[in-house]
Amino acid sequence: MSATSAVRSVLPPDIKARKGGQPLVVLTAYTTPIARLVDAHCDIALVGDSVGMVLHGMPSTLGVTMEMMILHGRAVVRGCDKAMVVIDMPFGSYEEGPSQAFRNASRLMAETGAPAVKLEGGLHMAETIAFLTARGVPVMAHVGLTPQALNTLGGYKVVGRDDEAAKVMADARAVDDAGAFALVLEKVPMGLAGDITRATSIPTIGIGAGVDCDGQVLVVDDMLGLFTAFKPKFVKRFGALAEAADAAIAEYAAEVRARTFPAVEHSFPDVLPPKGKA
Ligand code: KIV
Repeated sequence: MSATSAVRSVLPPDIKARKGGQPLVVLTAYTTPIARLVDAHCDIALVGDSVGMVLHGMPSTLGVTMEMMILHGRAVVRGCDKAMVVIDMPFGSYEEGPSQAFRNASRLMAETGAPAVKLEGGLHMAETIAFLTARGVPVMAHVGLTPQALNTLGGYKVVGRDDEAAKVMADARAVDDAGAFALVLEKVPMGLAGDITRATSIPTIGIGAGVDCDGQVLVVDDMLGLFTAFKPKFVKRFGALAEAADAAIAEYAAEVRARTFPAVEHSFPDVLPPKGKA
């Protein structure tokens, strides 16, 4: 399948131009109905590989595949008219080198219609980011806590305290120099995130990275209170959708058991009323 969408209204250079301006508003989206809601209020809809944990019950993002990202990417592109869609490159789809990364990034773009991809890693991914950018693949970078490196980092820890700060700063500068159009900073101490924001030419988009970033991103199911398996400190729940859904499902179950649902108004008559519709 080839890209189905026309040239989109917001493109990576527009996002890059927002450096230092009005904060960029970013949420994840994995499905068309949520993408429509995100599209109404956000600058970017991120098809994060968090989809593996949030929607598919995986223990980490490591098992997420290209096929999953393409399926969810297409669904989100269908739901977005205004917001720019960015698709995460899954673990194992880009780390071998620039050629592998280009093959898979171009496939994500061609098969979904999204205008950009995101990949994790700093200095060691700079060559790949430069290669992709030079060949028409806009890249959003992601440094600090990079969840695909969970096993080498030793958990979902804050990255960049004390001696680590210089490395995270070097990662940020490297992806900026390599041509990334924006940079996600995940679980980076707030002072360092501010320093990186001032030291780079591209918008920083924080998740657990304090108030000084050029924008913010959250996993939509976290902020809606829909994903409740755990709650990182940096998440604020703006809704309580899991509770609302639980109450609604409980009421449905009770009504089915009590035979109060369905009622006559939810049923089809055997004979149509005159001029009426079934
Ligand atoms: O996969 C994801 O949802 C992400 C965001 C948390 C930045 O990478």
